[in-house]
Amino acid sequence: MKKSAIVEKIIGNLSQYSPSQNPATAYAPTNIALVKYWGKRNQELNLPVTSSLSISLADKGAETTLSISSIKQDVFILNGKLVPATSSFHRRLSLYLDLFRPNNLFLDVNIVSTVPIAAGLASSACGFAAMALALDKFFSWQLSSQQLSILARLGSGSASRSLWSGFVEWHAGVREDGMDSYAEPLHEKWPELGVGLMMVSESEKSISSREAMQLTIETSELYKSWPQKVEHDLKTLKQAIQEKNFDLLGKTAESNALAMHATMLSAWPPVSYCFPETIAAMRRVWQARADGLSVYFTQDAGPNLKLLFIDQDAIRQYFPEIEEIRPW
Ligand code: DP6
Repeated sequence: MKKSAIVEKIIGNLSQYSPSQNPATAYAPTNIALVKYWGKRNQELNLPVTSSLSISLADKGAETTLSISSIKQDVFILNGKLVPATSSFHRRLSLYLDLFRPNNLFLDVNIVSTVPIAAGLASSACGFAAMALALDKFFSWQLSSQQLSILARLGSGSASRSLWSGFVEWHAGVREDGMDSYAEPLHEKWPELGVGLMMVSESEKSISSREAMQLTIETSELYKSWPQKVEHDLKTLKQAIQEKNFDLLGKTAESNALAMHATMLSAWPPVSYCFPETIAAMRRVWQARADGLSVYFTQDAGPNLKLLFIDQDAIRQYFPEIEEIRPW
């Protein structure tokens, strides 16, 4: 099944909707998964093998403004700079817009991003979520959050979780067309929870998460145990959130991230996003814990760590270099 068939199921006939004559703007925060999405059951529709659960990062995100383009081409401006038409960024976004274009309409897209991309924060998550929200406003589709989560997923899996603040769960779903694979916010709030960005390198990724997860699913023996691990971790994480048990949350998130990286290490050819400095940073976190500090990390498809903590002052003393983010 093609992406365009899902768009038709959700929106119907695109040419029924006229574009707004005024610019339409929407904001979406980026998110960090505490129980990760790693592996697809359908690559075209970004349908995941397992559910996942994330926390959104409040003011770290993307604000996207759409207006009608005066030329027969999409124009993307990212943080004030024109995105070259030959770049992969341009191609990926234009291909996404192709799914929604009525009567050869092209768009001017102005994106203001506050995501520190060099720190390994996902820009595609908030980028596609903000785009789906802005398109909904621009064409007055008036879709539900569930439907918009599905449309954001067609751009990037993790974008399905970026429509809300706080904790968000993306249900894997079982249907072939993925109409039951969307995200929903959890009711619980946890304003004391802190996230810190621990940079170890600004180098470009050697391999995209999209390619790495596919390679893992195809070749890693360890991947066979991943769905059970996620099922267990999701249950435990939800319990930790409900009970506001920080150590249980931290332990579950760290263990889940390490297990995800273990599945990649056992792929062939093997994938590792860790630099020597990443391992050194992990050891600092483990030492801090041995010294009695309640701090944990998670790691995505990059060498940098994200720290999870409650006690801001103690963390500042131990890790003065980190950038702190309050998710709420
Ligand atoms: C490690 O959502 O970027 O950050 O669906 O192929 O666009 P695509 O992948 P993407 O993968 C995110 C992987 C991860 C874990 C997570 O965010 O759950």
